[in-house]
Amino acid sequence: MKFSFFKVSTPPLIGVDISSTAVKMVELSSDGRGGYKLEGYSMSPLAKGAMVDGNVGDLEKVIDAMKLAWKLLGSRERQAALALPAAAVISKKVQMNADLSEEDMEAQIEAEANQYIPFSLDEVNIDFQIIGPAQNSPDEVEVLIAASRKEKIEDRVAAAEGAGLKVIVMDVESYATETAYSLVASQLTNSGHQQTVMIVDIGASMMNINVLHDNKSVYTRDQSFGGGQLTQEIQRRFGLSLEEAEIAKRKGGLPESYEGEVLQPFVQLLAMEVARSLQLFTSSTQYNRVDHIVLAGGCAAISDIDTIVQDRTEVHTVVANPFHSMAINTRLKPQQAVVDAPALLIACGLAMRGLPI
Ligand SMILES: Nc1ncnc2c1ncn2[C@@H]1O[C@H](COP(=O)(O)OP(=O)(O)OP(=O)(O)O)[C@@H](O)[C@H]1O
Ligand SMILES: [Mg+2]
Repeated sequence: MKFSFFKVSTPPLIGVDISSTAVKMVELSSDGRGGYKLEGYSMSPLAKGAMVDGNVGDLEKVIDAMKLAWKLLGSRERQAALALPAAAVISKKVQMNADLSEEDMEAQIEAEANQYIPFSLDEVNIDFQIIGPAQNSPDEVEVLIAASRKEKIEDRVAAAEGAGLKVIVMDVESYATETAYSLVASQLTNSGHQQTVMIVDIGASMMNINVLHDNKSVYTRDQSFGGGQLTQEIQRRFGLSLEEAEIAKRKGGLPESYEGEVLQPFVQLLAMEVARSLQLFTSSTQYNRVDHIVLAGGCAAISDIDTIVQDRTEVHTVVANPFHSMAINTRLKPQQAVVDAPALLIACGLAMRGLPI
């Protein structure tokens, strides 16, 4: 089976983000006025070892979480859009003759694939997208090529199929973040036009940085840092199991010392990591400032995290709410949706692949 990383597809799709700690699903529909309506979302925890470094570690465990997430979503839809982590995808920008047809371009890319990717063609899935005219060469266009080993795709497809879902789109997580960015841009001054925006997705184990300038991605970087560190510290300090620590972290009920002795040091560390990433970006690129920081991922649900990051970086900071401008199905709780929203950015970007608006 061949998957397109880029091409937009039309049927309604469930966006499915298989992260390190959960399977997350989002279902959107059109609100009939050029916007989106949130029909439903769900999160189902993944047991330890289910996903390992972005790969399926235990297929049965992933299938179980998929089944539960789909049940909680309460949808009849079975067609899905999934994504690979950016680390599993090799992408390269090349310049090609602007007169080539899509077919000729495809043929040329396949013929020259060994220049771009270190695997043989029958081991990989390869796709490309024309980005626009090449800057220095009027007869050429810039083309983005993306390739991934087939087995990485097949593992995820097997997990989805095991839960009765049909995979229509295989995207890349960083591209899905960029897609979903259009949903949070409305939270920013002038909807982010002409501005440099750093999206920082802090999950359980990874911090994914994606910088957009004038709504186009100009920089990405992944770093190992996440809320798992805080969970471990809670377990250690208060003698709790992983599950107990996760629940306490989200719902409260920890001893009084938690706030000052455990949470605050973690939050300061987080703000420092963001500041460091910001500095690395400005010092290694042509951009010497960032206008906004958008915090996403489960760690963005920590209260006042935006203020703390903003104080540390001196850059205007908001918590991502991809549901910001959406109508919401009345069976959902809007207040809970705002809390859950930052961790659902990728799943939203994937769900949008089925509804080009
Ligand atoms: N209300 C909350 N307060 C503090 N931490 C929270 C809250 N909600 C979620 N988290 C933390 O966020 C992390 C999960 O975030 P998220 O769902 O974005 O991770 P993930 O996508 O599974 O991880 P990764 O992207 O690293 O694979 C966990 O460490 C969890 O404890
Ligand atoms: Mg994540």
